[in-house]
Amino acid sequence: MANAARIAVVGSANTDLTTFTDVFPRPGETLFGKNFDLGFGGKGANQAVAARLCGADVLMVARVGSDLFGEATIKNFASFGIDTTHVRIIDGVSTGVAPIFVEPNGQNRIIVVKGANDRLLPADVDAAAEQLRRVDTIILQFEIPLETIYYTVRFARANKIRCIVNPAPAIPAQLANLTAADYFIPNETEAELITGQAVRTPAEASACAAGLLGKGFQRVVLTLGARGALVASAAGSTHVPGFPVAAVDTSGAGDAFIGSLAVFLTEGLSEPDAVTRANLYAAMSTTGVGTQKSFPRRAGFEAEWSRRTAKA
Ligand code: RIB
Repeated sequence: MANAARIAVVGSANTDLTTFTDVFPRPGETLFGKNFDLGFGGKGANQAVAARLCGADVLMVARVGSDLFGEATIKNFASFGIDTTHVRIIDGVSTGVAPIFVEPNGQNRIIVVKGANDRLLPADVDAAAEQLRRVDTIILQFEIPLETIYYTVRFARANKIRCIVNPAPAIPAQLANLTAADYFIPNETEAELITGQAVRTPAEASACAAGLLGKGFQRVVLTLGARGALVASAAGSTHVPGFPVAAVDTSGAGDAFIGSLAVFLTEGLSEPDAVTRANLYAAMSTTGVGTQKSFPRRAGFEAEWSRRTAKA
């Protein structure tokens, strides 16, 4: 594609407070953690940064609070060259925050306090409509009000813009309001919570994805962590394997996958190729600490892609 992919994220921005620990306290107990990291996060913001680092022009539509973290979040977006025209501060509300706990194997547990993210409303999508109509792909996640997500899916459909819905974190939702999206991309836990079907084996993943297609989704990409992703549509389902890496922190890997996948698809790569590349981008992100700060730039990604896919 001659011009850069144009991606919009209508979504969340958080400040991540990450503690690295071997142990978790019982009720009433105080323990010492090993290390701490403060960083910019939020599933929406992370996906926007991943898309930007992969070379897209990115528009962010978000709300932050009138606290220390709000202004800093806007500056962080701007430092990447992300368009912040529609990132606004809401007075008297806190910015979204996410205490994150990371185990020695890199596995994470996250609690999100949504704060200002809960104030991103359909009217804010209307306010950004002129710019949103010019993008190729809109990405949504579940850290903002569901009514705004439903509204944006309809907006994307009406304007023939590719729409990716990442139901993270999973909460009960009216799926009929989401099926107009082009891609529905849950991870295993989210897919289980949404469908009630277990996703422990490749066969269960296929059955779960088929269940989601049965509910009306056109294409489902079920992310499987280190095992890669399952791509399913009416044409059938394909497992796209992941890439082995030495993971230190998996936080934000799903966001790295989605942001990069949006760019690869918008650039016109075939679905299997785009998903394979997004698998590698996500895997690379787990080799560094934090969310956005662990995401590689496009040049670094391409070097690793060439190395991994070179014929022996
Ligand atoms: O997916 C990782 C993200 O989830 C973190 O950045 C945290 O803010 C939560 O939104």
